[in-house]
Amino acid sequence: LNQLLFRNPAEPPVVFHWIPFIGNTVPYGIDPFKFFFSCREKYLQYGDVFTFILLGKKTTVCLGTKGNEFILNAKHKDVNAEEVYSALCTPVFGKDVVYDCPNAKLMEQKKFIKFGLTQDALRSYVHIICKEANDYIGSAKAFQGQRGTVNIPPAVSQLTIFTASHTLQGAEVRSRFNHSFAELFHDLDKGFSPINFVLPWAPLPHNRKRDAAHQKMVEIYSEIIQTRRQPGVTKDSEDMIWNLMDCKYKDGKAIPDYEIAGMMIALLMAGQHSSSSTFAWMCLRLADNPEVMDELLEEQKQVLGQDLPDITHEHLQKLPLHAAAVRETLRLHAPIHSIMRKATSPLPVAGTSYAIPAGRTLLASPGATSRMPEYFPNPMVWDAHRWEDGSPNHPSLGATDDDEKVDYGYGLVSKGTSSPYLPFGAGRHRCIGEQFAYVQLQALLAVFVRTFKFKNLPGKEGVVGTDFSSLFSKPFSPAIVEWEKRQNAKGE
Ligand code: HEM
Repeated sequence: LNQLLFRNPAEPPVVFHWIPFIGNTVPYGIDPFKFFFSCREKYLQYGDVFTFILLGKKTTVCLGTKGNEFILNAKHKDVNAEEVYSALCTPVFGKDVVYDCPNAKLMEQKKFIKFGLTQDALRSYVHIICKEANDYIGSAKAFQGQRGTVNIPPAVSQLTIFTASHTLQGAEVRSRFNHSFAELFHDLDKGFSPINFVLPWAPLPHNRKRDAAHQKMVEIYSEIIQTRRQPGVTKDSEDMIWNLMDCKYKDGKAIPDYEIAGMMIALLMAGQHSSSSTFAWMCLRLADNPEVMDELLEEQKQVLGQDLPDITHEHLQKLPLHAAAVRETLRLHAPIHSIMRKATSPLPVAGTSYAIPAGRTLLASPGATSRMPEYFPNPMVWDAHRWEDGSPNHPSLGATDDDEKVDYGYGLVSKGTSSPYLPFGAGRHRCIGEQFAYVQLQALLAVFVRTFKFKNLPGKEGVVGTDFSSLFSKPFSPAIVEWEKRQNAKGE
């Protein structure tokens, strides 16, 4: 009825809803993928495009590879990210960085970070990550003894913040995570609470804590930078603070300290949530598929030798099943379920008779595309072997992310939107942390399969559901698995 009475034939169909402002917010908020697939059944005939009401805003979803292309590779003059994200992100990241600056400046900031993640830097990180993981396993209460149970999401979250902070942010920031920084990070993170999508600037208690935490973190980063600038202090690690201290914008200006601090906060947030969610899912999937954990160990023994030497960056590149396990986890559990933009001019939707009016919020979901059966047979099955040639679940042709290369200002990136597998996005806002994320996730995986055997609690099959309530999705906590330590250094 809604469709018949209120449908504007020039625009994509509007999903049925009873209450005006709330619209479809509840089913979308509980499980966006379920919501998208149920809409898809109804609106596929209209071109895989539909509009729903999200907290009073008309939001047009464009699914599939064509939808990803339309939104992620649109021209910056037609579509932009900053108008959608800046109210939420600026209080957390700070002024003049990321979405609180012209897009050209963000592209320069991304270039600094991408180019700072050199092969030498990544190589030095592998040692740090493995050491942090072994120290964590040696000291965390949940891992004492020979066998036990652990609630995966909080344990993994702590471990990934230690590894990401030590590698990207340096030893000074890492040491503070044993004390005050963890609390500040937590307070700042509250800036991404669901209520902040509606009222990011409201004087609520958690927003006051967010602002105080931001201020304090900027002070801490500024102190670190000033100490490093003292005469006689020389660069002693490959972290991002050292890198950014040496970078200059195109106009020749150095990056002010408060902008370095803002970028470091943004990196911490972007990297921590996505990697910790992915590694938590990885552990839960391994507990559900314990035989894969043994196969991964066997792969290390076959490739690196029975005595399992210390893991290096070169080793990680020789372990295809480890890479496939990360790939598969990102396919099924993309941490960013919705990528939003604002249309700034009217846009015809290719392949349909519709036009999107200026001002409309657009939503792409590569995480939905990577669950589509037309590209990934048995899409809801976690199968690390699907990426091997000859697997019955192998992705259909075209499921690669090699594509035309484009430079948006931060180096050549794969345009990538014809691929149904885009966990790191595409276009000018594509992730610059992909290589770091792979290094971190594979190194953690390699340490875990050497150390543990995981399995589900008796009588508990499968994995927990997904908590979609924040910008980044993650497994619901508690998600408990049983662990047993392998007997010796050979991982037996
Ligand atoms: C952008 C995913 C790790 C930094 C993105 C985007 C996605 C993504 C989908 C595109 C967002 C958009 O188009 O609006 C992931 C996943 C990760 C990960 C799945 C790990 C498993 C990291 C890490 C860092 C990082 C470790 C930092 C070192 C960034 C930055 C952007 C970005 C700076 C650019 C934002 C923009 O241009 O608007 N990431 N990311 N990410 N990511 Fe990541």
